[in-house]
Amino acid sequence: MEQKKFYITTPIYYPSDKLHIGHTYCTVATDAMARYKRLQGYNVMFLTGTDEHGQKIELKAKEAGVTPQQFVDNIVEGPKGVKDLWKLMNISYDRFIRTTDDYHVSAIQKIFKKMYEKGDIYKGKYKGKYCTPCESFWTESQLVNGCCPDCGRPVVDAEEEAYFFRLSKYADRVRDLLVNTDFLLPRSRVNEMVHNFIDPGLDDLCVSRTSFKWGVPVDFDPNHVVYVWIDALFNYTTALGFMNDRYPESDYSTFWPADVHFIGKEIVRFHSIIWPAMLMSMDMPLPKHVYGHGWLLLDGGKMSKSKGNVVDPYLLAERYSADALRYFLLRDFPFGSDGNFSNELLINRINMDLANDLGNLLSRTTAMADKYFGGILPENQAAGPEDDALLEKAKGLRARYEADMEAYAFQNGLSDVFEVIDAANKYIDATAPWVLAKSEETKPRLARVLYNLAETLRICTVLLQPFMPDTCVKIFAQLNVADEGKTWDSAAVFGTLPVTATLHKGENIFPRIDTAKELAELEALEAAQKAAAQAAQAPAEPEKTEAPAASAELIGDHEEEIDFDTFCKVEMRVAEVRACERMKESKKLLHLTVFDGERERCILSGIAKWFAPEDLIGKKVGIVANLAPRPMMKGKYVSEGMIVAADTDVDGGCAIAFYPDNVPAGARIH
Ligand code: ME8
Ligand code: MG
Repeated sequence: MEQKKFYITTPIYYPSDKLHIGHTYCTVATDAMARYKRLQGYNVMFLTGTDEHGQKIELKAKEAGVTPQQFVDNIVEGPKGVKDLWKLMNISYDRFIRTTDDYHVSAIQKIFKKMYEKGDIYKGKYKGKYCTPCESFWTESQLVNGCCPDCGRPVVDAEEEAYFFRLSKYADRVRDLLVNTDFLLPRSRVNEMVHNFIDPGLDDLCVSRTSFKWGVPVDFDPNHVVYVWIDALFNYTTALGFMNDRYPESDYSTFWPADVHFIGKEIVRFHSIIWPAMLMSMDMPLPKHVYGHGWLLLDGGKMSKSKGNVVDPYLLAERYSADALRYFLLRDFPFGSDGNFSNELLINRINMDLANDLGNLLSRTTAMADKYFGGILPENQAAGPEDDALLEKAKGLRARYEADMEAYAFQNGLSDVFEVIDAANKYIDATAPWVLAKSEETKPRLARVLYNLAETLRICTVLLQPFMPDTCVKIFAQLNVADEGKTWDSAAVFGTLPVTATLHKGENIFPRIDTAKELAELEALEAAQKAAAQAAQAPAEPEKTEAPAASAELIGDHEEEIDFDTFCKVEMRVAEVRACERMKESKKLLHLTVFDGERERCILSGIAKWFAPEDLIGKKVGIVANLAPRPMMKGKYVSEGMIVAADTDVDGGCAIAFYPDNVPAGARIH
């Protein structure tokens, strides 16, 4: 029988800066999926790479005083660069594409020409708005408050001769694909694409630029370079040898169409509208799925590279191991939704699940086997009443896990495994092996208890391999598992280990972490990184000392950008100031009691320097109403929101807008 194939990809990342925890998150998820499919016996192709063209990289290189090629070479291949990071994280990619590779460049030229010859790309005049950081053109009607609808940053006027792709021609077919198939996952992302982009009317897409050089030249009109997103999206096929000789054409016929592209939700538009339309134009099969995963956010303040508070995966993996970081990323954050990253969550997760539950189960099981049987279980074993429940759970685990993995629900797949680990720990308490060890008569029962524990652990470990490959090698070694006990098939069979299993206690796989000490050290390290980043980027932004930023922000190079959905999550409302007092504890703060239309709430605001209580009492002001309540003054007060204020043109000044009488308390501010 022909081997089943599975082709999975990550986005190709911009090497405009070092990669961070957000990129690591997506790549780790892709790696877990690829390893899972290999475990199941699939012929897997796992592609990742870097998207190296575009104006942003050209600008960055100029700033750094090097050529664009030198710039990207350093970030991709240099010390602690992209490839080093993936090595550290144990990423088992089969292929790595760089869009500056010759074979890719010439393939893109052929692809562009083919669409041109077909009439799907034509020459016209471009007039519109361009967002440089996003490399995106927008029409006037797509702008939000005059800014880029993706990132909210200002756009610039652009007018030039350009090539266009007939995106409008494919609107109906793309709409049908999104609405009537499960091409785009999770399904919750379909509405936004259809209502915000397709239904208002798809304009033809500008697909060439003449204002910069760092791109793939249009070979029949070399003043133009190919729009970076065309260059980028076709990577998924050129890396399989499509229209080039670097890889055999048979890779393309074997692996295309992709089973799934994993991407972040901010680039769903490119992957679910533009990408299928171009494939339709090329008469190529469409990928089976595009999965738009959520973002990792950092709480409690604005993130920016100049402040150095981008979470560094290198630091965390070197400190806690790649496996611990991989596990945490996929266990704590549901793949389809956004989640808040924090060091504390990471450390708690390592301590609770890895050191306590998994680590203890392994060390208790192997230590008891050593102590009571010299590491080799005797043949004479006796079943007992506690066994059935554990065995049932362990036998059914693979099916539950598989269902979750097939839905890309990594969090659930892992929690399935840890439920069984939990049941095994409880089984130890229920059977009390240390009591069974006291008499020769109960030794057969003791032997079976230890066998059941070892076998349960083996099954869990088989299924943990996609997530924590190094750790699983260590566990298998302590349980002396032969190769046939590490397979997908064996995970559904209880009783694969020989009855006279040989178990030996080895190293402690996840030592417990001293949370308080570690958090303090991480904070110091991150502060040092921040200082270094600030020194490198002087003049630094002034530190803001008062209230926290209004919303959690995306980690990394999106520090300035949130999408429309995220913006909608910020609930701003009009509130009436019912009371306001100065505070004896702080000269900076005012203590306000505001009515939000439903109830009164307390807000502490750092505006005492500019406002007296009597300036505010009775006024209607804007507040951020759904900010997480924040304990202040050592917990004496809890501030339940934030007053919306503006900086004045005088250094450090502050102004507040007051709403007129016809605006009721509770009115939503948009
Ligand atoms: O968009 N949380 O590259 P990019 C979760 N070159 N995931 C995050 C993240 C965060 N805070 N930040 C980044 C590009 N990511 C294009 C792609 S593909 C043909 C071209 C992940 O360097 C997420 O997967 O901006 C996101 O889509 C990707 O990195 C964007 O990386
Ligand atoms: Mg991006």
